[in-house]
Amino acid sequence: MSVVAIIGAQWGDEGKGKIVDLLAEKAKVVVRFSGGDNAGHTVINPYGEFKLHIVPSGTFHPGVVCIIGNGVAINPVVLLEEIDNLQKRGVNTSHLFISDRAHLIMPYHILLDGLEEELRGKEAIGTTHKGIGPVFTDKIARLGIRTCDLLNKKGFRSRLSSILEIKNAILTKIHNVPPLSLEEIYEQYCSYGERLAPFIRDTGPILKDMVSRKQPIILEGAQGTMLDPDFGTYPYVTSSSPMAAGSSMGSGISVKQIDQIIGVFKAYTTRVGGGPMPTELKDKTGEFIRERAHEYGATTGRPRRCGWFDAVAGSFSAQVNGFTSIALTRLDVLDVFDSLKICTGYKLNGDILRNFPSDLAILGKCQPVYEELPGWQTPISDIRHHKQLPSQARRYVARLEELLSCPVNVISVGASRDQTIMVKQIV
Ligand code: GDP
Ligand code: IMO
Ligand code: MG
Repeated sequence: MSVVAIIGAQWGDEGKGKIVDLLAEKAKVVVRFSGGDNAGHTVINPYGEFKLHIVPSGTFHPGVVCIIGNGVAINPVVLLEEIDNLQKRGVNTSHLFISDRAHLIMPYHILLDGLEEELRGKEAIGTTHKGIGPVFTDKIARLGIRTCDLLNKKGFRSRLSSILEIKNAILTKIHNVPPLSLEEIYEQYCSYGERLAPFIRDTGPILKDMVSRKQPIILEGAQGTMLDPDFGTYPYVTSSSPMAAGSSMGSGISVKQIDQIIGVFKAYTTRVGGGPMPTELKDKTGEFIRERAHEYGATTGRPRRCGWFDAVAGSFSAQVNGFTSIALTRLDVLDVFDSLKICTGYKLNGDILRNFPSDLAILGKCQPVYEELPGWQTPISDIRHHKQLPSQARRYVARLEELLSCPVNVISVGASRDQTIMVKQIV
């Protein structure tokens, strides 16, 4: 391995945290490159079970440098709590660094996220209410505050003062809510800044040195490709790019340096929040998958919508990311079915679409076309070698490889680090 990007290939929650924790054993650096604390990455390893929101999932390996990249939006309260919790549970966080270019989630971002969702009414996106849309809007609108600003109190106060004037005008005149206090936010963020200062730095030189020495680096994605603002089910998307291209932008590692792009797919489909999901099962089977697999959001606890594997969305995702291989997770969840369905096309007005449509009005009318495969009906969580999988499970995986035109190199058969089949060594 040199530089490997781990990318959510569906609508998020594919098991990226588990895969990063596993592969980080052989890495020297793990960089989280996008999103914020809208992410919830579950890791189960000898330290216990963790739900990480901002800290990279490589943090459990002593000696692995963890970087929160410039592409991440940081809520300092959440980050400090996460660091404290890790330390309390015996995890060493002294190898954590925060890019001085990362943007900060401010109290008005969280407030506006909620107020905007309310105004959207029936068309609400179902955001995580973590301030993600507003913070990335401000980044592009050149109204953001970055971690480097916390290191210069005078400059921070002056920037916050002018930005807050704009935000308070929006809060009071458009949303009819009281203004926020400059003093309070300033004092709060100065105290966060003091605690975070030892972690904040220009992370470019660390990465430059590691890249030039060909040290193994993992770029950890958040969310999933179908939530990407460009290629996802817009406007029901998030506000930073979870895709392979985003891994370069959000870390500062050149696209030229990225050697492998691993798409993490769940063996079926889930989605949390609003927006289209062609293979959603609004029936007993969907409920059964949700309960069997405990499909509830790691960040908000909301029930995840569940359905069969969507290979139309999947092959679109594989193509726009250029996956070099796939990590397939949660195959064990399918252990109990006598037959399994894979969506291979969308039926629309008598035609079969094989490409994922951009227009949600069209997508909303699409009916999934399914191919049925036999299930294996035997537990697979204790299997560690591909050839020991039941033939039906191997056939299911092989069919996904065909449909996605990409090899499956990792098969995850349980939530713990060791419940994994390495079909081919990635690192
Ligand atoms: P992430 O956001 O992509 O890191 O994924 P989440 O942590 O939000 O959701 C994935 C869930 O699946 C978590 O509860 C994991 O513990 C769990 N998980 C990951 N891989 C497997 C697997 O192979 N089998 C089972 N049963 N659970 C898994
Ligand atoms: P991980 O990294 C699943 C979804 C939200 C909502 C939409 C926009 O754990 O895979 P936002 O708060 O980002 O403005 O919400 O995106 N969403 C996720 N869904 N996994 C995630 O992260 C998500 N992060 C955001 O539910 O539909
Ligand atoms: Mg998650």
